[in-house]
Amino acid sequence: MPRPPSPPKHPLLKRPRRLRSGEAIRSLVRETAVRTDDLILPLFVSEKITAPVPVASMPGVFQHPLKTIAAVAAEAAAAGIRSILLFGIPAKKDERATGAYAKNGIVQRAVRAIKKTTPALVVITDVCLCEYMSHGHCGIAHFEEGHVRVLNDESLSLLAKTAVSHAAAGADVVAPSDMMDGRVAAIRHALDDAGFQETIIMSYAAKFASAFYGPFRDAAESAPQAGDRKSYQMDGANALEALREVALDMEESADIVMVKPGLPYLDILWRVKEKFGMPTAVYNVSGEYAMIKAAAQNGWLNERDTVMEMMISFKRAGADLIATYWALDIARWLKK
Ligand code: PBG
Repeated sequence: MPRPPSPPKHPLLKRPRRLRSGEAIRSLVRETAVRTDDLILPLFVSEKITAPVPVASMPGVFQHPLKTIAAVAAEAAAAGIRSILLFGIPAKKDERATGAYAKNGIVQRAVRAIKKTTPALVVITDVCLCEYMSHGHCGIAHFEEGHVRVLNDESLSLLAKTAVSHAAAGADVVAPSDMMDGRVAAIRHALDDAGFQETIIMSYAAKFASAFYGPFRDAAESAPQAGDRKSYQMDGANALEALREVALDMEESADIVMVKPGLPYLDILWRVKEKFGMPTAVYNVSGEYAMIKAAAQNGWLNERDTVMEMMISFKRAGADLIATYWALDIARWLKK
């Protein structure tokens, strides 16, 4: 039998474990917390359906029809959720994303319905063209010999029109996710010219071209038909460029900046918050959701513990706001 090690000659004075001895003391010294107030619930509303349709790659997430979206939002508010992020799936797509800025487009109608039922809920709209373009790119696209060119400046006026139409429908916050250069300024000018000085801009400032968006493109039916998004979304290897992107969006008067995805880009989140101290959001994207759901369904991970650990990592890294498909579950878990 090996002998147990003898106690140290000098008694240990410093024992970090003292503060870990029980849940009560641990909770007293805990540095970070997740609050339901920090959460943004993404919702999909589709013009093509009359009953909710489950998204296969995102168990628990649905596309909702217009006729029930206000009730879904009201239920979320009743559960304590204070903000939603709305994505639309139009009946028809074209080469000019007409549905994105139509007065009676799917998002515009959904916003009006939600605001009528639950005026206090903060309604954020995703401003992008990909769901509305027949080719699925986030701006006006030219196809030349199998090569796609997404035109920057030509896309700005469509994005600005989209944001104004969302504000006119009652959106509190518009969230451009297209990654065209200069879109925040274009949107700010257009909003102000239309009398929407109070409308907040939350820009997807550091949005990376990511494989983690895969399941979302099923949910939003927005996968590009040809090519990829690497000529406008950021290269995952670039942290300094992310800081430049955020600085530009701040100059262009973004009110809230976002880092996206979340988990693989925690370092970016940290640097953005440290450097700029802006209200900072993180998007816990569809792929982050799908992988934990799949593991949990197999019994390989405890969903609640894993999700809460991930949420704490976002807060620790500097996130003020977290967009997550788990928002309703988290609100429920935090009540207990
Ligand atoms: C639209 C948009 C995307 C996401 C949010 N807005 C997809 C993309 O850029 O391809 C991804 C969200 C998620 O994966 O949960 N441009």
